[in-house]
Amino acid sequence: MRAFLLAALLLGAAAAWAADVFDFIPAGGRTLMAKALEGRPGADEVRALLSGKRTREDWLAYLRGHSKAIPGLQRLKEKELLTLADYLSFNMPLPAGKIPASPAQANWEKLLPPDGRDFALQYCQGCHIITVVVTQDRSKDAWLGTLGKPSHVQIKLTRGEREALASYLVLNAAIPIDDVPEELRAGGATY
Ligand code: HEC
Repeated sequence: MRAFLLAALLLGAAAAWAADVFDFIPAGGRTLMAKALEGRPGADEVRALLSGKRTREDWLAYLRGHSKAIPGLQRLKEKELLTLADYLSFNMPLPAGKIPASPAQANWEKLLPPDGRDFALQYCQGCHIITVVVTQDRSKDAWLGTLGKPSHVQIKLTRGEREALASYLVLNAAIPIDDVPEELRAGGATY
C-alpha cells in the first residue's frame, strides 16, 4: 500500500513536471491563434484569416485592423501579436481542405500547423537541453547558420520549417537564465 502511494505520488509529480516545466517558453503562433479565436468571431472573419496570404508586416497591420471583429486579438500583448503575424506569414493560406466548415466547433490547437515553439520542443532536445536554444539572442541568419552546421543539418525540418523556427526564435528566445526552471539550467547537455 505504501509503495503504491509512493508510486502514485511520483507519477503525479512527473505529470506536473511534464505539464509545467516548459511554460516559460513563450507561446507560438498556433497557440496564440487558438487564443485569438476563442471569442468565436464570425465565420467570414475566420475564413478570411485562414485563406489570406500576406507578409508579416501586412499581417500585423491586418490583425490590428481586425481587433474589433476578432475580439480575442485584444488579449494578445504586442510581442504576441507580432509572433502571430510571423506565424501567419509562414502558414497561411491553409490548404482549402483544412479550412473547417463550421469554425465555431473547430479545435484550433489541433487543427493548425505546428509553430516555432512546437518545432523547438520536438526537435531541439534530443542532444542537448532546450536551454541551449531558448537563451540565445541571435539574428535569423545566425539561427539558420547553426541549423546548417553538420551537427544540425540532418534534423528532419524542411527549409520552410527551419525559417519559421528561426523567425520564432528571433522574437522569443533570449530568455534570461533566471527565468529558466532550475532543473533545466545545467547538466543536460550530452554532447
Ligand atoms: C542530433 C543532435 C542535435 C540536435 C537534434 C540538436 N542539436 Fe543543437 N547542438 C548539437 C551539438 C553536437 C552541439 C555542439 C556542437 C555544435 O555546435 O555543433 C549543439 C549546439 C547547439 C547550439 C549552441 C552552439 C551553436 O552552434 O550555436 C545551439 C544554439 C543549438 N545547438 C541549437 C539547436 C536547435 C535550434 C535545435 C533544434 C532545431 C537543435 N540544436 C537540435 C546537436 C544537436
